[in-house]
Amino acid sequence: MEHWWKEAVVYQIYTKSYYDTNGDGIGDLRGIIQKLDYINSLGASVIWLNPIYKSPDVDNGYDIADYQSIDERYGTLEDFKELLTQVHQRGMRLIMDMVLNHTSDEHRWFQESRSSKDNPYRDYYIWRPGKDGKEPNNWGNYFYEGRGSAWEYDEHTGEYYLHNYSRKMPDLNWDNADLRDAMCRMMRWWLDLGVDGFRMDAINRLVKPKGLPDSPNPLTPPVGIYGYVVDRTMCANRPGIHELLHELNEKVFSRYDIMVVGETGNVDAAIAIDYVKEEREEIDMVFHFEIAKNPVLVDAVKFKEVQRRWYHVVEQHGWITQYLSNHDTPRQVSRFGDDQKYRYESATMLATLMHTHPGTVYIYQGEEIGMTNVEFPSIEYYNEKYTVGKYYTMVESGRSPEEALASLRMMSRDNDRTPMQWNSGENGGFTTGSPWMHVNPNYVSINVAEEECAEKSVLRYYRKLTAMRRQYPIMVYGSYRQIMEEDPELIVYVREYQGDRWLIVCNFYDGIRELSGIVKAYPEMEKRELILCNYLSMENEQEIRPYEARIYCLRDRKI
Ligand code: NOJ
Repeated sequence: MEHWWKEAVVYQIYTKSYYDTNGDGIGDLRGIIQKLDYINSLGASVIWLNPIYKSPDVDNGYDIADYQSIDERYGTLEDFKELLTQVHQRGMRLIMDMVLNHTSDEHRWFQESRSSKDNPYRDYYIWRPGKDGKEPNNWGNYFYEGRGSAWEYDEHTGEYYLHNYSRKMPDLNWDNADLRDAMCRMMRWWLDLGVDGFRMDAINRLVKPKGLPDSPNPLTPPVGIYGYVVDRTMCANRPGIHELLHELNEKVFSRYDIMVVGETGNVDAAIAIDYVKEEREEIDMVFHFEIAKNPVLVDAVKFKEVQRRWYHVVEQHGWITQYLSNHDTPRQVSRFGDDQKYRYESATMLATLMHTHPGTVYIYQGEEIGMTNVEFPSIEYYNEKYTVGKYYTMVESGRSPEEALASLRMMSRDNDRTPMQWNSGENGGFTTGSPWMHVNPNYVSINVAEEECAEKSVLRYYRKLTAMRRQYPIMVYGSYRQIMEEDPELIVYVREYQGDRWLIVCNFYDGIRELSGIVKAYPEMEKRELILCNYLSMENEQEIRPYEARIYCLRDRKI
């Protein structure tokens, strides 16, 4: 079935690092308003905002203290309404990040909850007495915070509360019907204001396993040394999660013309189908972690294998997402491409892959100008919880600081959180003040202004791809079949839709390959017409150059 959100190109904005208009070093909503024409010119049709709610900012906004107010660092509710109006006036849409797994410990609900055992809000969170003088179970928190437990003892009432993330982010208890109602009311409030959907944080973790048993997995260092296990499977996809999402769909999502995308770690394609199959009426699509967030570098063969499995979800009437980076990942050109010699070529090749695979496309701010990872010299430069927590736990368990940092640097979430690089002026034009986080020093050469006029421009190539997606439904709705599945370097696939047929060729590496190999494997490409290539010229069509991407239209089937 056709839907606007299947055709969408979503542009993800990390407000804090986007554009600062009041000189306090923090990006703000008025900054986004000022950049709307830029976003529109990129060809994005939906904007996704990372959390902008009132928050103590322990986890950059994912610790929400009030779901219905805007954090004053970003602006006011009036600013938000103006942003929404202006987004809509340009024919775009806007979705909010919705964090339902936990709140900040500064949320009023938690303040009430911790005040006494018989407070009406007590049961909004997950409280347990200790076991043999220790925490209720062996779970470790995902941020490696403190000595690693997922439980925090609260002296006031003598019990522990569960926090899978920071101790300042207590997990909510979705078994509580009042909590469920309050959350539904809150989401409807945003939708009534006109927002066009949600990106649901950690959505497959809302339901916890019955009895909260110990993780059966072995203690894994470094947190293992304290006796806790960081086991993200414990709260993932538990019985009851589908009923809960169906309830949210019935009470909230289905009543509006919106899109809902879930963030789901520990979900593969076989599990995902139960979340996104249309007839199940839960959510529209999920972000999986098999490529962008895979701790093992995904090569061409693995990339193809993952895409084949996920395409099966589309065949079964579900929908999928295509992304290579977000605020929790490294920069895609550094991770999967070559951010030095072939920065333009590899950034545009990766963009071609995303835009021509089936699924809704997500662009993370800065990706469209080929922004790269950052090389911070020491841990003091890092901000995000996971890197900092894991670093100190590693050092405490005997690793040298250099070794610890080296192992964390590539995957650190801060790589994607450095400020947006607008021009070669001070701080990359992000702020006139002192930026909340160091700007990547390569802003002098990698920035939007430069990309607007460079001969080899990642930005202009993105504009071509998004324009093509609007023009050619085959990019969204076409069937998908890979050729040369086991080839270790080339990613080649055919899309077909209503009598049109395209062949896409991407060289995932910096070697040179012959086109003849593909023609041999797929003779039907004899009558071909090149409709897009990321290299500026083509002297020898037979030679597929480093990180080259080509889109061919195969004419033989044309009427
Ligand atoms: C996933 C978010 O993307 C990440 O940034 C955050 O730290 C966790 N969920 C906790 O909300």
